[in-house]
Amino acid sequence: MLPNASDVTAEAYRPSLRGPLPHTGRVLTPLVPVADGAAPPFDPFTDEGLAALRAAYAPPARDWLRINLITSITGSAAGPDGTSETLTNRTDRRVLGVIRAQSDIVLVGAQSVRTEGYRIPKTATLGIVTGSGDLSGHRLEPAGTGRLVVFCPERARAAAGGALPDARLVTVPDTGGRMAARDILEATRSLGSRSIVCEGGPSLAAQFSAAGLVDEVCVTTSPQITGTTLPSFAERAFTPVPARLERLLIDESSTLYARWFSRPTG
Ligand SMILES: NC(=O)c1ccc[n+]([C@@H]2O[C@H](COP(=O)([O-])OP(=O)(O)OC[C@H]3O[C@@H](n4cnc5c(N)ncnc54)[C@H](OP(=O)(O)O)[C@@H]3O)[C@@H](O)[C@H]2O)c1
Repeated sequence: MLPNASDVTAEAYRPSLRGPLPHTGRVLTPLVPVADGAAPPFDPFTDEGLAALRAAYAPPARDWLRINLITSITGSAAGPDGTSETLTNRTDRRVLGVIRAQSDIVLVGAQSVRTEGYRIPKTATLGIVTGSGDLSGHRLEPAGTGRLVVFCPERARAAAGGALPDARLVTVPDTGGRMAARDILEATRSLGSRSIVCEGGPSLAAQFSAAGLVDEVCVTTSPQITGTTLPSFAERAFTPVPARLERLLIDESSTLYARWFSRPTG
């Protein structure tokens, strides 16, 4: 049992090992920060609970770059179907929606757009990073939103424009065959986007992290022990960046929601 946790809190996070684990959790129990009294569990699908979730994920500065990913316990960013669809749950999607609503732009690598069923967020712009301009298989319906941007080198503009005629194309310098993470971020900020979330995939997230550009990493840990088919921050090594745990929530399916800060605040 958690220190100071109420009975309700304990029931909310304690999984039953006698039967199958619930696939979806709903009620969120705060574990960190550890306050004098236990912070009460909340249901993010109520108005009050949604307000609590928004407060829990508020960015601490206007200029803020965060990464938001889900992984299995074993660090795989893809479940058995090769996408994050088999890792996520309804509450995770709620968290994702809150982070998107707090962002000016959602950045994503082209492979994720080709693989996952990406849609334009309700309020934020979707920014796709591609070196080839190949966005085949996308399921985007951008017509009229004005909230779709493709970041690509000069050589990929024709292909990207053909695949997504409604998208705004932003040219980023080609540095040795690819765009530098710093240049992608600068191009993003040049559009007036200050609160930025990168939703992956691992290859793009790793580049921002390796370049030391990331202020926060939000990681949902799905309670599954899987083969690590897709390492959550790609396979390449980079200089470790220290981080501190700002917040940790758990739902009753044993899914963990962590915010790690890598930029000092306050
Ligand atoms: N667990 C999660 O939260 C999560 C989230 C998102 C995605 N996913 C999964 O992750 C997988 C995809 O991730 P991924 O790491 O393979 O790919 P990714 O990061 O989604 O996309 C990689 C692609 O983005 C473009 N790109 C990235 N950096 C670039 C640079 N510096 N310069 C030019 N182009 C650049 C390239 O596109 P071109 O090939 O067009 O040049 C590259 O092939 C999928 O299986 C998806 O289901 C998981």
